[in-house]
Parts: sequence; C-alpha cells; structure tokens
Amino acid sequence: MFDYFRIAGPLVRLLPAETAHGLTMAALKTGLVPHQPSYNDPVLSIRLWGRDFKNPVGLAAGFDKNAEVPDMMLGQGFGFVEIGSVTPRPQPGNPRPRLFRLSADRAVINRMGFNNEGLDVVAGRLARRRRAGIVGANLGKNKDTEDAASDYEKGVRILGPLADYLVINVSSPNTPGLRALQGKAPLEELVRRTRKAVDALAVRVPLLLKIAPDLTEEDLQDIAEVALQGGLDGLIVSNTTITRPDSLISERRSETGGLSGAPLFAPSTEILRRVYGLTKGRLPLIGVGGVSSGAEAYAKIRAGASLIQLYSALVYQGTSLVTRIKQELVEALRRDGFTSLQDAVGVDAGRAAE
Ligand SMILES: Cc1cc2nc3c(=O)[nH]c(=O)nc-3n(C[C@H](O)[C@H](O)[C@H](O)COP(=O)(O)O)c2cc1C
Repeated sequence: MFDYFRIAGPLVRLLPAETAHGLTMAALKTGLVPHQPSYNDPVLSIRLWGRDFKNPVGLAAGFDKNAEVPDMMLGQGFGFVEIGSVTPRPQPGNPRPRLFRLSADRAVINRMGFNNEGLDVVAGRLARRRRAGIVGANLGKNKDTEDAASDYEKGVRILGPLADYLVINVSSPNTPGLRALQGKAPLEELVRRTRKAVDALAVRVPLLLKIAPDLTEEDLQDIAEVALQGGLDGLIVSNTTITRPDSLISERRSETGGLSGAPLFAPSTEILRRVYGLTKGRLPLIGVGGVSSGAEAYAKIRAGASLIQLYSALVYQGTSLVTRIKQELVEALRRDGFTSLQDAVGVDAGRAAE
C-alpha cells in the first residue's frame, strides 16, 4: 500500500480537476489510501448535540456527495464527515468542465450543480455502514422542483434516521433560485416545514442551516432571528462565494461558479464572527472557508466556530493536512492556556450584539 496523496497527489494534480477527483474517489474506494495514524489529543474533543466529536476538523460537503467513502475519510483523521449535497432524485449537474483549480491562488471554482445519485442510493450506502464516527447529511433540492421545502422534507425523512446531523443547504450558487431561500419569509417557511419533518422522526437529529458568505447585515440578522426562534440547532458558515476578490491572479478566475479555498478565508471568517455575535453564542457554529492550517482553524474557533470543515485545501495538500492541522491546533490551544477547545470558542468574537 502506498501513500496515495503524497505519491500520486502531484501527478493527479496534472489531470483536469474533476478527473483527478474521480481517481481519488476510486483510490479511496479500493483501499489504496492507508488510514492516517490516529491523532486525537483530548484537548481537541468537544461534545455538541449529544454527540462526542474526537476532534473539530471535518470534511466539508461536496467531496463525498454520494456517501461512497465517509469511513475512509474518517480514517484520514477527520473528526466528522459531511456527505452530500443530496437531492431527492438523481441529477447529472451542469455540463463539464465545471470544476477548476486556481493553483496560483490556492483556490477552486466549481459550478457542479448538485450532481448526485439521489436520496435512495445514498440512503442505501449509509444504511450499510457500521456507524462508527460522525457523519452528517447535507440536503439539497432538485433543479426542477418548485416547492423547495418538499425536497428538504423528503431528505429529512430518508436520511434523518441514518445521519448524525442534517443540513439544509440553501447557499450553493449553482442551482438557480436556491440562495433566494435565505431571505426572511422563504427561510421561515422552509425552516418551519423542515423542522416539523425532523420532529416527526423517531430519533432526535440536529438540524443545521448552511449559509452563503455573500449576505448583507440585514440577511444575517434575519437568519440569526430564525435560528434563535428555535428552528435550528446550528449554522454552517459558509458556502462558496460568487464574488471574485481583486487579488485573484489565475487565468480561470472569471469562470462562473462558487469560489473556495484561500481567498474565502477572510470573508467567511468575518461572517462567522458576525453570526456568532448575532446568535449571542447560543448556537453551535461550524466554520468553513479557506482553512489550510492549524492557525486558520484556530482563528475560526476564536471567531465563534465550535467545529471547522475544509475541502479545497485537500486538493493542494492531500489528507496529511488533517493531522497537521490537529497538531497545530493543540499547540495553539496550549500556548494560549486553554485546557479545552470549548473554552476558546468565540473569544475573539467581540460579542457586540450582547
Ligand atoms: C467541488 C466542490 C463541490 C462542493 N459541493 C458542495 C455541496 O454539494 N454542498 C455544499 O453545501 N457545499 C459544497 N461545497 C462547498 C464546501 O462544502 C465548502 O463550503 C466551501 O468549499 C468552502 O470551504 P473550502 O474553502 O475549505 O473549500 C463544494 C465545494 C467544492 C470545492
């Protein structure tokens, strides 16, 4: 067995991005990728929603859309894995090419458009798992569904019993009209109906909402209000951005789609800080966007994240990054005198709204 990410990684990165991802998935499925030595310092553990996370570093949605390799990715050292987004019916997504590396910017642009195998296939895979390790399910809507909430209700009914948490994703930029569901009235309706479906399950499953980084202060206030009124158990901040910072230098910077990776770090962390303030630290937040080091993971935690996730940095650094982030995070927490991760959550947030 060889270290796929270290040895094959540089070669795979010469291929078109989606071909490379397909090869990586194939390698993960055939077991060519050995597990990382387990590294979970007790200072990194955190209990949220009645679940014990061994460490706060998660795999973000979009890498394993169809729940093909959640356990292999847990074996890479992640404290939790989010599969999806999954839509009720299978759909092909947008025409290729739809995934682009912006190597000089350490960024990625994607306009995948929720390509996935649909709820039934994904549920079959999750049902066959041994269920060791935390796996969340990220729910989307089909491109041609008019009553969006009905798609999320279906997602809850089918994946709720098989997942450790559920995510309403209304923040992907590649499904027309999806992000409009973040507006106050549609969001209230969506959260109310999805919550009802969750409450009807025989098991208790936390319900989270994943938001875009491109929201106004007013949007954020509305979202915080809906969340605090009891509809949601947490927020994921954030999805990819449709903005293009002036700093981008890669040829592909003008491709349509969502931008992720290094240029997303600062704006998504700022939104996270604002959301922590607006929700007064009462809801667990998952910080996502441009994390590629322990220092960045730590900054998200200090801005208000109880957990963090990453995806784009894996494209450039492979999964050995996960252990490195955990080691650096332990050092940072100890250096600043924290004996538990929980104590560091939100210390830099300013709590302006309190
Ligand atoms: C190729 C690709 C596909 C993605 N697909 C999804 C998705 O299906 N659902 C979702 O909620 N987020 C999706 N995301 C967004 C990521 O989960 C994450 O929020 C974003 O990439 C920022 O994190 P990063 O900078 O660490 O990549 C996708 C990202 C990429 C790069």
